[in-house]
Amino acid sequence: MIEAKNLKIAYEEKIVIKDFSFNVREGEMVSIIGPNGSGKSTILKTISRLLKQKNGAIFLEKEDISHINIKKIAQKMSSLSQHNRSPEDISVKELIYYGRMPHKKWYELKTKEDEDIIQWAIDKTSLHGFKDKKVIELSGGERQRVWIAMALAQRPKILLLDEPTTYLDICHQLEVMELVKSLNEELGLTVIMVLHDLGQAAKYSHRVVVIKDGDLVVEGNPSKVLTVDLIKEVYNVEVCIRKDILKDEMIIHPVGVCKTCETRCTDEAI
Ligand SMILES: Nc1ncnc2c1ncn2[C@@H]1O[C@H](COP(=O)(O)OP(=O)(O)OP(=O)(O)O)[C@@H](O)[C@H]1O
Ligand SMILES: [Mg+2]
Repeated sequence: MIEAKNLKIAYEEKIVIKDFSFNVREGEMVSIIGPNGSGKSTILKTISRLLKQKNGAIFLEKEDISHINIKKIAQKMSSLSQHNRSPEDISVKELIYYGRMPHKKWYELKTKEDEDIIQWAIDKTSLHGFKDKKVIELSGGERQRVWIAMALAQRPKILLLDEPTTYLDICHQLEVMELVKSLNEELGLTVIMVLHDLGQAAKYSHRVVVIKDGDLVVEGNPSKVLTVDLIKEVYNVEVCIRKDILKDEMIIHPVGVCKTCETRCTDEAI
């Protein structure tokens, strides 16, 4: 569905990604993980065409995205960046309506279908009590849900999410991840996300892509890829990993930064 081939990405002279390739199949949930500054947002921005790569190409359903009209891309793919800013005076409902723009001509007014989709996005993100409030008046977590609702109103096939659970309390983090999972399962939405919480990445991804300093370290099934040694190599952190076989979940506990950490822990099952 999305294929990135030999991407080289730079900010002016500073090369951030040297040679990155990956492939995401339709209906997959893939997480890109790695330390701060490793290039995760840069990769997502390039996929959503906010940045142009120096070398290589990105294919959306086998078509080179540099040849696809930006509005056509937005009809298929919506993207939620790490830092979102809305106009000061806009209401929740109005911001969500922006998600409908790729599907409309500039002169078209809001239709019943738009209203229904906005309402569906509000329902999905539990924003009923907030829909007439100004976005600026909401807490960080509430605002995050509004941005997700806007991305959903775009009714994309592919959702790009850069740290969607940042600012959220643990309950809303779980709600957002469960929402994304249900959209994946019920609508077949393909999801590419950046997550910092390795436990969440393990739980909610079919595949994780691990990067460090702009290079792909490894990719694959979370339970195979996320090992004590890999996390130590990539993050310089000692962790304990427990595998809950019944729930098919991994629990990843940070123990300490490697230089100071004396505890040695191996992967174990419970
Ligand atoms: N607009 C920019 N101009 C110049 N350099 C940038 C710009 N944005 C990011 N960088 C640099 O590119 C590198 C990768 O940044 P990126 O934002 O992709 O990292 P990240 O993996 O998303 O990190 P984080 O986990 O902190 O969000 C960093 O060294 C960063 O300083
Ligand atoms: Mg980032």
